[in-house]
Amino acid sequence: MNRISIKNKGPLRGELHAPPDKSISHRAVILSCLAGGRSVIHNFLMAEDPLRTLDAFRRMGIDIQTGEQAGEIIIGGRGLWGLKAPDGAIDCGNSGTTMRLLSGVLAAQPFTSTLTGDASLTRRPMQRIITPLTEMGARITSEKGGYPPLKITGGGLRPIHYRSPVASAQVKSAVLLAGLFCDGVTTVSEPAKSRDHTERMLSACGVDIRISGNEVSVRGPAALRPLHMTVPGDLSSAAFFMVGALIVAGSEITVKNTGINPTRSGIIDILKMMGADIRLENEREVSGEPVADIRVKHSELSGAEIGGDLVVRAIDEFPVLCVAAAKARGRTVITGARELRVKESDRIASMAAELRKMGVAVEELEDGLIIEGREDLVSADIESYGDHRIAMSMIIAGLTADNETTVRDTECVNTSFPGFMEILQGLLPA
Ligand code: S3P
Repeated sequence: MNRISIKNKGPLRGELHAPPDKSISHRAVILSCLAGGRSVIHNFLMAEDPLRTLDAFRRMGIDIQTGEQAGEIIIGGRGLWGLKAPDGAIDCGNSGTTMRLLSGVLAAQPFTSTLTGDASLTRRPMQRIITPLTEMGARITSEKGGYPPLKITGGGLRPIHYRSPVASAQVKSAVLLAGLFCDGVTTVSEPAKSRDHTERMLSACGVDIRISGNEVSVRGPAALRPLHMTVPGDLSSAAFFMVGALIVAGSEITVKNTGINPTRSGIIDILKMMGADIRLENEREVSGEPVADIRVKHSELSGAEIGGDLVVRAIDEFPVLCVAAAKARGRTVITGARELRVKESDRIASMAAELRKMGVAVEELEDGLIIEGREDLVSADIESYGDHRIAMSMIIAGLTADNETTVRDTECVNTSFPGFMEILQGLLPA
């Protein structure tokens, strides 16, 4: 098992490109495979999670080639009905997005398929997609309580209006993808607006999609035009360096070409609320997504109260936000974030346990955390729980500790961000 040792080496300085967006990379593959004709995707994230999605479609007969440029992929879409049954179970690895979005596609197929995953994915709740997809007419079996593996017998779907009890882009996307195959209008509404990449990309594919507040409808059966797009940098990956620069004195960095989609940009709002010096430069649109260069300078942060709609807009950034809170003056209270308990690890429990090892007073709430900031973190021997975002967050925390900190079990970083350590070293003094 890999481990990474880190210590306070001084300020983070310079420019970097965040890796390509993970959510958008998954969707680019899925929609291109369902489109009729050749799609070209630039800046695709070659990391374990989106490669699971890509591999699943290859196994269902879709031709996917890498292009000449790094991160370029070329997909020969065969239309909505062009998939063939895979020869055996599809392994989704650690990727919840692969399993949940693929379920939406498989629910419509005239064959039976099985989706499996690693130990972490096997503990993640799938009832949230089983319920609507079953209502649409798919037959899905799971382990007791709605856990993987899933066996999906698809076909003959009917459109529904699904009122999701959770704000989840994975649930919303699974239902919308299944809706593409239905005859009529499928609608999903959710309690708060989750990331809208699926909607933006379906619209780029020419699908009849309507959005009204937190409600989205697609009309099927849809004919998708191929995609020609460039995936923007991932704000969720940029967030680690942004927090690193904020908490290490003397830092100043620019993260180039990063997605700032308003359904994802809660991290920027929260950090600004805490007193961060963050500026957006060169704001523009790339392939239907808002993008900017993000300039971040070391700042004295203060604790904040974080809840409500901000939570869903920053859902993946809470581990690193906890690190910012640990270094802020005063108390940070996070509530309404129960979803953190069912991510790649229980991120409330993981962050509470690991920050305590570094001397931080943390109280665990059922749906959040209370963190008392402190000036100096104590070096420690840290667990990642096999969760990429816990590993990277705690490496960032280690940059401000009094001595060497070791983070164990760091291979998981490759699920979303191969090259994380190289980029970090490039920003630190030699
Ligand atoms: C994702 C949606 C979010 C997020 C995950 C990626 C997506 O999950 O946490 O990392 O790509 O749709 P939920 O839909 O479970 O909130």
